[in-house]
Amino acid sequence: MPPTARRCVCPGSFDPVTLGHLDVVLRAADLFDEVHVGVATNPAKRSLFTSAERVALVRRALAATDDPRAARVVVEEVPDGLLVDHVRRTGAAAVVKGLRGGTDYAYELPMALMNRHLADVETVFLVGDPRFEHVSSSLVKEVARHGGDVADLLPAAVHAALLARLAEPRQQG
Ligand code: PNS
Repeated sequence: MPPTARRCVCPGSFDPVTLGHLDVVLRAADLFDEVHVGVATNPAKRSLFTSAERVALVRRALAATDDPRAARVVVEEVPDGLLVDHVRRTGAAAVVKGLRGGTDYAYELPMALMNRHLADVETVFLVGDPRFEHVSSSLVKEVARHGGDVADLLPAAVHAALLARLAEPRQQG
């Protein structure tokens, strides 16, 4: 990708990546030349997958799609520290996040304002596809933990990894 390419960062915990995340990432690639999925560790959340596993799952999910936009998506870990520093290092023009509704907006708005306050980093919100309005990593994990069927909400490799992780003893996080 040339240095003048317009890049964005799609940050998140991705624990694990869902079809809703993938939809936003691929739609971000309609707006930017290069999309950097930034797999971060949110200290407020206890992760089921390590950050390396989460990165690997996003990469596998993208590799499994025949969508040509996936070729312009880079997946990387966000190092400890502020997201805005990662955005700057990446040379990205903006952060892109999906919004499923008002609750997401209330959660995302202060972060977007803080990122602009800290480093003039802009946030672009994409309206989530209504097919995935009810889909979050936390809810998917909770449903799967109780034996519910979440196969339609996750990339196939991610679904398999989730079931395998939940079948491990003491891996119910
Ligand atoms: O998927 P999540 O857990 O809602 O993503 C939140 C995340 C990881 C994007 C956010 O916690 C974050 O940006 N963390 C990096 C540290 C940071 O910059 N915190 C201040 C945000 S204003």
